[in-house]
Amino acid sequence: ITDVRESMYLVSEFAKEYFHKTLLNSEEGKAIGLSYFKERGFTAETIKKFNLGYSPETWDALTKEALGKGYKLEFLESTGLTIPREDRPFDRFKGRVMFPIESMSGRVLGFGGRILTNDKKAAKYLNSPESDIYHKSKVLYGIFQAKQAIAKQNNCYLVEGYTDVIQFNQAGIENVVASSGTALTPDQIRLINRLTKNITVLFDGDAAGLRASIRGIDLILEEGMNVRVCGFPDGEDPDSFARKNSHDALVAYLEENSKDFIQFKASILMGEAKNDPIKKADLIRDMVTSISKIPDRIQREVYTQECARIMDISEQVLVSTLAQLTQKEI
Ligand code: CTP
Ligand code: MN
Ligand code: MN
Ligand code: MN
Ligand code: MN
Repeated sequence: ITDVRESMYLVSEFAKEYFHKTLLNSEEGKAIGLSYFKERGFTAETIKKFNLGYSPETWDALTKEALGKGYKLEFLESTGLTIPREDRPFDRFKGRVMFPIESMSGRVLGFGGRILTNDKKAAKYLNSPESDIYHKSKVLYGIFQAKQAIAKQNNCYLVEGYTDVIQFNQAGIENVVASSGTALTPDQIRLINRLTKNITVLFDGDAAGLRASIRGIDLILEEGMNVRVCGFPDGEDPDSFARKNSHDALVAYLEENSKDFIQFKASILMGEAKNDPIKKADLIRDMVTSISKIPDRIQREVYTQECARIMDISEQVLVSTLAQLTQKEI
């Protein structure tokens, strides 16, 4: 680790503590930030576990505090905590509730900050910019808190957002991480691969969530991992669903609704394709494309059998399509 990066880690750690203390101890933090989190049903224990915080509305509260403690403007700016301005640099996250983003080993890499108003013009979440320590395509929110549970359960729930991770933890499900709204990347999948071979993708009950989960499947298969998929009712996400249901009901829902990728694709896309031979053919080709990503030959064979059974088509046709697609043997 270079001195530059070490300095960036240190100032990020300082900011995490500053935001957290401000949330818990300042009048503004309590009145605005803490009451926001309470309204979302977050407990004091949760707030502590994830080091949630509040960034004051003041133009440069954090910047001033950090400079006063001897942190350099250079690193406040390179981490994106402070936005450069010749006369008066200012806090990027002012007036937001804060979600520190940590590495597998618990170092603070960056932040997500949420606005408290429902102002549709402002971005709901603002995130740290790419930097020498923060690469958004390589981080998974919650991985530090989740790693032991992922290994122990031998499964990882993958959700979209910060609050999904947090609400699941509160519901007693700790093996959960978020891609934080970015399209899932191979680097993120490899982080999980160090802990388990099994991923269950949980997606928001909207069109964007469905699209993202479909894109994620092939990437996960390509890494040689097993993927299951579970959606939520219209308009719900893991956060809102977990809040409305008991722990037992949530666990039961996940068990009943998690499907392997063949069943998932069949159930989602079959509705529209059922009576249309061309659409059904497209769907089968889509499934075979997914199967072709699987590195393991026996697994390819097993999924090919399942696909043939579910789609009511001969296995031979699938096998030859697969061969055309990939040159891989089955
Ligand atoms: N996201 C982002 N910038 C936005 C919107 C979303 O970075 N303007 C990321 C955040 O990490 C967010 C995730 O994408 O948690 C999922 O987005 P969405 O489902 O819209 O938000 P929720 O997590 O459901 O947020 P909330 O419940 O607070 O509204
Ligand atoms: Mn780097
Ligand atoms: Mn969403
Ligand atoms: Mn959501
Ligand atoms: Mn939500």
